[in-house]
Amino acid sequence: MIIPKPQKIEVKSGTFTLNENTIISVSNETKKVGEYLAEELRPSTKLPLPVENIASDKNRISLLLVDNDNLGDEGYELISTTDEIKITAKTNAGLFYGCQSLKQLLPPENLYSHGTETQHNVAQSPMSAINIKWTVPCVNIYDKPRFKWRGIMLDSCRHFWNIDFIKKNIDIIALHKMNIFHWHLTEDQGWRIEIKKYPELTEIGAWRNENGEKYGGFYTQEQINDVVKYAADRFITVIPEIEMPGHSVAAIAAYPELSCSGEKVDVPTTWGIHENVYCAGNENTFNFLENVLTEVFQLFPGDYIHIGGDECPKKRWEKCQKCQQRIKNENLKNEDELQSYFIKRMEKFINKNGKRLVGWDEILEGGLAPNATVMSWRGIEGGIAASKQDHNVIMCPVTHCYFDFSQTENEKIDIGGGTTTTTEKVYEFEPIPDELSDEEAKHVLGAQGNLWTEHIATVERAEEMLYPRSCALAEKLWSSKNCSDFGNFEKRLELHLKRLDVLKINYFTTIP
Ligand code: ACM
Ligand code: ZN
Repeated sequence: MIIPKPQKIEVKSGTFTLNENTIISVSNETKKVGEYLAEELRPSTKLPLPVENIASDKNRISLLLVDNDNLGDEGYELISTTDEIKITAKTNAGLFYGCQSLKQLLPPENLYSHGTETQHNVAQSPMSAINIKWTVPCVNIYDKPRFKWRGIMLDSCRHFWNIDFIKKNIDIIALHKMNIFHWHLTEDQGWRIEIKKYPELTEIGAWRNENGEKYGGFYTQEQINDVVKYAADRFITVIPEIEMPGHSVAAIAAYPELSCSGEKVDVPTTWGIHENVYCAGNENTFNFLENVLTEVFQLFPGDYIHIGGDECPKKRWEKCQKCQQRIKNENLKNEDELQSYFIKRMEKFINKNGKRLVGWDEILEGGLAPNATVMSWRGIEGGIAASKQDHNVIMCPVTHCYFDFSQTENEKIDIGGGTTTTTEKVYEFEPIPDELSDEEAKHVLGAQGNLWTEHIATVERAEEMLYPRSCALAEKLWSSKNCSDFGNFEKRLELHLKRLDVLKINYFTTIP
């Protein structure tokens, strides 16, 4: 009944029913998770659900921290009897995931008014919900995740997404016990993050001319702080991606001196790989990026900063006097090594500021930066190579994890060579390649689904591409390796889609 499937679930007879006297019993340490649960359940159940320190031992949902190393940093136990529901964990993250399971044990209607009602365009509780009996089956659940990196990436650059949509997604990521929101914030076609030191990044770089109409937008630092907090309250880390040295034309449109030629350009309106990239020979490029990252570090408290690193053509560097001089001065063999120099230099700066660098698998070319984490996207080969070099890896191969690819033979999208990635295909994904030894496999932190948005312009379309493929991926990342087959998942998905209905998510379905 639960997605992702718990490690162990034992269903007993009987039910617990929430009523007007049910309390949420917490300690000082677990109060915040208790408040979250109450705020989630009150709008739909219309029950008072007071959050109290004093625990009567009946008719309560208790959230308790216990010193149980078996549960790890994110595991939990949930025991429901006819008298009470007890969630225990070693950490508040574990309790939070126990609450997510509890919401899936309740009737799907409990998810009405998910998130902030006034901000989110989701349904209010219908009057009929009042007549629902808020029962939870008696169960014993023991649960913890298989992987620690369970992510979704959203491209806010090719198309811009408002804060409501970002928050709604964070809620759904949380519902699936995922814990990473990778936010792609800079691109050729738009710079989306306010940087106070460089206002033209967003005055110029955030906007493009689409057939005479100005298209774009950006997030203020205040909005970003708000999103980061919203995510943290749901035990989700936001990983910002600031692309370099390629995919940077929007920044160059704002500050042309950052490119090899210095020529003035517009923010592009065409997709694909652009030749105009940051000049690797110019000290100003590094000053600029260090200043940008200094503000980024302040906004995103997580450990990781994603620097892109993918698809950087070297054509401009080949012809640039400054870049060629850099190659000479640094004793580099070629432009691949110049890219490696670029990333290594940025890594030093990132590490010096107490953060860790993540990059797409192209950062392997010309030599990996010493502490880099690699996101393997062109396949699993980059991930295998990096693991074998003792580097951490996040898997997101185009074959299984690119949610911008078509999911039906009936629809050909001009991306991914017209291939089709069905939910079943996602479910077949195994993040740990056979080629790795047990020791090497420890470097695979997990995986993520990526939503690039060149061909996705509306919320409805984005949701159709994300769900239910994300549900399948969430299970592959949380649940144990051979916990179920696709048939079993599909059966649970039937009920899960009712939850997504309540949440007003426009998931993909072949049934008209
Ligand atoms: C990528 O899809 N260019 C990382
Ligand atoms: Zn140059």
